[in-house]
Amino acid sequence: MQDKPIHIGLAGFGTVGTGLARILASNREWLDKRLGRELKIKTILVRDLDKPRSFIPEPSTRFTDKIEDLVEDQDLDLVVELIGGLQTSYEIINRSLTSGKSVVTANKALLAERGPELFALAAENNLGLYYEASVAGGIPIVQTLKESLAGNRIESLTAILNGTSNFMLTEMTKKHLDYEQALILAKEKGYAEADPSLDVEGWDAAHKLCILIRLAYGRDYPFSGLPVQGINHVDPYDLVKAGNFGYVLKLIAQVKERSGSLQAGVFPALVNKDRMLAKVDGPFNAILLEGNAVGPIMLYGQGAGDLPTGSAVLSDIMALVNRQTFPNNTGFLDSQLKTANILKPELTVSRHYLRFTVQDRPGVLAVLARIMGEQNISIAQLNQTQEAAGQYVPVVLMTHAAPFQQIKTALQEIDRLDCVRSPTTHYRIL
Ligand code: NAP
Ligand code: HSE
Repeated sequence: MQDKPIHIGLAGFGTVGTGLARILASNREWLDKRLGRELKIKTILVRDLDKPRSFIPEPSTRFTDKIEDLVEDQDLDLVVELIGGLQTSYEIINRSLTSGKSVVTANKALLAERGPELFALAAENNLGLYYEASVAGGIPIVQTLKESLAGNRIESLTAILNGTSNFMLTEMTKKHLDYEQALILAKEKGYAEADPSLDVEGWDAAHKLCILIRLAYGRDYPFSGLPVQGINHVDPYDLVKAGNFGYVLKLIAQVKERSGSLQAGVFPALVNKDRMLAKVDGPFNAILLEGNAVGPIMLYGQGAGDLPTGSAVLSDIMALVNRQTFPNNTGFLDSQLKTANILKPELTVSRHYLRFTVQDRPGVLAVLARIMGEQNISIAQLNQTQEAAGQYVPVVLMTHAAPFQQIKTALQEIDRLDCVRSPTTHYRIL
């Protein structure tokens, strides 16, 4: 083994930072065999120096609350950013790259929103900015798109990318936990972001989707232009009804290429129970890709948590240590990726699940059917719960495939009817 260890400056020692340090300690001999150099966490940046720590890498590891101790230390070989958020993390990455240090990060929010300028800065300095852990925790999807599938045109990508939402939906569906209980549990298990609204409102999945779009298509899809809907308005009633029809509800992130333009979004959708994506439960993530040469490929694994995410961070550290010359941060030669041509979500054609809350009286179903017929929407299945005549009842139906614009127009008219009590719930069916 060569003498000088690789000195790592670690920003953040929470769930992922501690996970990384634990793997470095437990797999030390194995890593020596692969790298021939020792990986040593020299300095750790935290917010609160007095906080008790469950694990300390080595007695010599220095804890600090000053950014300068990382970014200005010329003895560090690379910096690992695991604090999250948009401001301090940006400063750490920017200053590290400017001062000649390659960076590993798990920060999908920052990469989605300010990735292009950071990738340009890394390219300018011929440095690595690696981010395997930013998407789908332990699943090696970044490397897969950047290298293993680099020769393919990716026709579509359909994924479960938020462990917290998937865990919550699983707990609500299978154990009948209510939304709040499921969220508390997800936080306790370390899956949720520091601000869990990022998880449940779909933003975290959207951040990850923007990163995957870049890797798959070599185009920048502006985060602010992505249609995003989370699970925060999901009613447990629809989970039961979906189950009765043979479906489960999942938070889906999807992009499809159509004649050079991209149709993308994050939305809860019904997935047939027989499909592989429907069987992805708990904090697990999955990514289903269609490559024009390779065909369908699905990657599955733990999308959140200390060790799975630490594993992805460590793979980047090792890749950087082994790197020869070209840093290959985006997977494309252009360091400035062009903006994607975007297709409007209204053009998306899919089947839909609709739940109306309507008065149970003669003629109501006929009115709903007429409005949908006028929009060329064909009904495939229908179910009405029995109540006393005249009461408001849920009427659930599944449509055949129709453009979202036609569904929207029909629902606008239906939701204005006197016989309708509340806005119609609607989900796409995958
Ligand atoms: P976390 O548990 O909340 O830990 C954050 C760490 O950063 C803490 O050690 C905290 O210090 C430190 N920190 C926060 N703000 C700071 C500041 N302004 N200055 C210095 N230190 C600061 O977060 P995490 O779950 O490990 O997530 C870290 C990153 O990984 C995030 O970008 C997240 O999105 C991403 N990620 C997380 C997971 C996961 O499963 N958790 C999976 C994939 C990606 P103190 O310890 O002193 O409070
Ligand atoms: N909060 C994220 C999730 C962590 O639940 O998926 C992994 O990125």
